[in-house]
Amino acid sequence: MVHVEDSAPDHRVRCLRYKEIDHRREVPGGEAKEAIELGKRVLKVNGMKKYYEVRDNSLRALFAGKRIRHVKANEELSFTAREGETVAIVGESGCGKSTFAKVLMGLETSTEGEVRHNGKDISEVAVRDRSAKQISSLQMVFQNPFDTLNPSHSIGGQISRVIKKFGVETDKKKIFDRVMILLDTVKLPRDFYFRKPRQLSGGQKQRIGIARAFAGNPSMVIADEPVSALDVSVAAAVTELLMDIQREHKTTLLFISHDMSVVRYLSDRIVVMYLGHILERGTTEEIFAPPYHPYTEALLSAVPIADPEVTKREIVLEGNLPSAMKPPKGCPFCTRCHRRIGDICDNDPPLEQFVVDRHIIKCHIPLEELRQVLPVITVPGVSERLHVEQMDEH
Ligand SMILES: Nc1ncnc2c1ncn2[C@@H]1O[C@H](COP(=O)(O)OP(=O)(O)OP(=O)(O)O)[C@@H](O)[C@H]1O
Ligand code: SF4
Ligand SMILES: [Mg+2]
Repeated sequence: MVHVEDSAPDHRVRCLRYKEIDHRREVPGGEAKEAIELGKRVLKVNGMKKYYEVRDNSLRALFAGKRIRHVKANEELSFTAREGETVAIVGESGCGKSTFAKVLMGLETSTEGEVRHNGKDISEVAVRDRSAKQISSLQMVFQNPFDTLNPSHSIGGQISRVIKKFGVETDKKKIFDRVMILLDTVKLPRDFYFRKPRQLSGGQKQRIGIARAFAGNPSMVIADEPVSALDVSVAAAVTELLMDIQREHKTTLLFISHDMSVVRYLSDRIVVMYLGHILERGTTEEIFAPPYHPYTEALLSAVPIADPEVTKREIVLEGNLPSAMKPPKGCPFCTRCHRRIGDICDNDPPLEQFVVDRHIIKCHIPLEELRQVLPVITVPGVSERLHVEQMDEH
C-alpha cells in the first residue's frame, strides 16, 4: 500500500502507478447494439380483465349484503408482442403488472378477454392444465432470486431437471453438456454446477434464474422486476446479460419494471399501466417524446438525470394510487392528473386515441393539444429539433 498524500496519512491505495491515472478522461460508453429483425406476432392480448374476489368483513358490507368485493387488478388490457421484441410494462406499485404476468404464466386465470400465445388462447388455462411444450415455451425470471431456487439441490441438478422435464435432452451426458453451455451463457464458472444456492451471491442466483428460464428454449420470457433485489452495479450487469441472451435466441421478452430510465435502453416498445389500465403504449421513441399521456409525462419527470446540460420539467404526482377495489368512475388517473380538464374526466372513461400505427393514448384531451406539450426532458439542440420536426409532420 502506498500513501496518496502526506497530508492524508490514512488515504492509501494498492497500486504503484496510481499517479499516472487521468481521472478526468471520459469513460468510453457501451457499444450501441444493432437492432434485431422482428419476426411474427407471438403474443396478442385482447381485452383481458382480471378481477380478484375478496371478502369484505366490515359491518357496512354485512348490512348491505355485499360481502364479496372485486379487486380490479387488470382492466381491458390489449397489446401485442413479436418474435425477438422486448416489450416493457411500466407503472407504479399496485398497478397490476404482476397480475398480468401471473395470468400469462397460468398462475391465475383471467376473468374476461383473450391472451393468445402462438395463436392459442391461454387466458383461462391454468398451469396444471398446460402441456409441457406450452410451459417450456413461456418462462419467467422472478423478482427475487432468493426464493426461487431449491436450497437443498445443487445448481446443476436444478437446471438439469428443467432440461429433462421439457424434453430438450434425455441423454445424461447431453443434459450435463447443456447445463455447462448454459453456465457459460450466463457467465458463471462451470464448477457452479456442484454448488448449492446458499453458496451464491444474489447476482449469481439471478444468473441461475436466467439460465433456468432459457433451459427449455422458450419463445417468450417474462421478467418481473428481475433486478430490483440486486444492487446497482450487479443489476446493470444482469440486465445486460438478459438482453444479450434474448437477442441471441430471438426470444420475445416482456420486461416488467417501474423504472423508466431502465426500460428506455432495453425495450422496443413500452406499455404504460395505471390502476389496471393501459394508458399509453407505443415504441420507446414514441413514449419518450410528445404527445404524451399526462401520466407518462409525470413518470418521465421522475427519471433521474445526472447530466447538468439536460433539463427536465418538474411534474409532481400528488396523492396515492386509488384502491383497485373502488377505482374512479371516469378516467382512472383523474384523482391525480395535473392536466384534468373537468367533469368529463371524473365521469366518462376516455377512449383510446390512435396517434400513429400502434401508438395509443387514453385521454380526453384532443391529440392536437397533446402534441403542443413541450418535451419533459430536453437535451440541448436535440429535443427542440425533434419536437419541431414532429409538429411539422402533423
Ligand atoms: N391474490 C390477490 N387477491 C386480491 N388482490 C390481489 C391479489 N394479488 C394482487 N392483488 C391486488 O391487485 C392489484 C395489482 O397487484 P399487482 O401485484 O399485480 O401489482 P404490481 O403492479 O405488480 O405491483 P408491484 O410493483 O408492487 O409489484 C393490487 O391492488 C393488489 O393488492
Ligand atoms: S382523461 Fe382527463 S384526467 Fe384522464 S389523463 Fe386525460 S386529462 Fe387527465
Ligand atoms: Mg409486481
